[in-house]
Amino acid sequence: MKTERVVTIRDRKIGEGMPKICVPIVGADEKEIRAQAERIRELPADMAEWRMDCFDGVDEPDSVRSVLGTLRAILPWTPLLATFRTRKEGGNRDITAEGYRKLCAAAAEGGCDLIDVELFAGSTLPWETDAVRDGDTFFRELVETAHRCGVKAVGSSHEFHRTPKEQEILFRLCRMQALGADIVKIAVMPQRPEDVDVLLGATIRMCREYAAVPVVTMAMGEEGTVSRINGELTGSAITFGSAGRASAPGQIPVRDLKRALEMIHEKETGRKQEDSRAAGRKKNLYLIGFMGTGKSSVSGELSKRLGYRELDTDEWIEQQQGTTIFAIFEQKGEACFREMETECLRSLGKLDGTIVSCGGGMAVRQENVALMKENGVVVLLTAEPETILERVRDDDSRPILRGNKTVPFIAQLMERRRAAYEAAADITVATDRKSVGEVAEEICARMEDFV
Ligand code: S3P
Repeated sequence: MKTERVVTIRDRKIGEGMPKICVPIVGADEKEIRAQAERIRELPADMAEWRMDCFDGVDEPDSVRSVLGTLRAILPWTPLLATFRTRKEGGNRDITAEGYRKLCAAAAEGGCDLIDVELFAGSTLPWETDAVRDGDTFFRELVETAHRCGVKAVGSSHEFHRTPKEQEILFRLCRMQALGADIVKIAVMPQRPEDVDVLLGATIRMCREYAAVPVVTMAMGEEGTVSRINGELTGSAITFGSAGRASAPGQIPVRDLKRALEMIHEKETGRKQEDSRAAGRKKNLYLIGFMGTGKSSVSGELSKRLGYRELDTDEWIEQQQGTTIFAIFEQKGEACFREMETECLRSLGKLDGTIVSCGGGMAVRQENVALMKENGVVVLLTAEPETILERVRDDDSRPILRGNKTVPFIAQLMERRRAAYEAAADITVATDRKSVGEVAEEICARMEDFV
């Protein structure tokens, strides 16, 4: 299935405009479930989530399919999400991996529109170990089961007792996206107010830099309230509101939630109109040049002076792939890495006001040069091979230079790339014997012609 930034289900565009309000159904039997679904009909809800872990008949596939039939009859136009949450993730029951697999299949066949696939479902092992790969396979299979039935998969990850670091939140969201999820979601538990900032910051970065599908995030509990209403600002596409019994701590009653979302939506619409009226957009600045010409250091200095954000294409790729450049070269080959570089530039095209520090080989591909020129000013940094050798001597992170740290090798590769570098550059600055500050100063002075 092709991934999309906006997922449309029964006329609801998830990932566009106001965040969609999803209301959980937490009944223990069919009677309770029916009553809750009927109440949802009266509420300003965009979607409903059937929490299968609350249902006493969850072990019987026929009962699961029958409940879904009932829900569909009561809510014919409402996108239905089917979810099972284990106790550890804040749910009501536990389940074996095999049971989970069967349940997901029953729910997908039963006619839900979306199914929640927990990232850890196939693995009881801690996230940080390599064994998570087994979990990956399990996750991918569940996504495929959903897709075979025409059902979308919501990849989800839960931290019921803590808030992981931003890096880890991004890693999990990217991982689920890479494994085929149509929507990616993470719920965390803040232990202090700063944790809410971490979640919001990670959401903004994910939506701005990495997301190819809608993203859903929330900080649970009272402290996390803001994360349930400000999705239009951060990019989070769905928010869970309560109708009677909440299914997770901190959920806001649906009508209050709707009022808050509408207020933000009005302000946002006004602000966007203002922005589009404002003349011109701040272009990006692309730093290109051979390894060791100082792109990353100069980027830091320029960011301070110009107030632009910083982004490093190698870091972007490592983040998205969940591994190092070195491992990508070794396991997938250089050609594959070059594809990733182009993909990175394509994704970053929508940014502005960003200093993009490019991997040394970026300017060699014509397509990359076109993407850079379309979105900003290209600045080439140069240095003599001797200077390069001096700067990279103690760094072993670059696969191309491993075992090749000699002046002749560097000079030869540099010569091969020279024409491409020069053709791409709007501005060229030599860095030999200059401080980072001096190089940044020179770039700023010459940027005036372009911005
Ligand atoms: C490369 C340069 C590296 C990195 C990769 C390949 C190259 O980036 O993208 O190891 O082909 O020159 P830096 O220039 O930031 O070291």
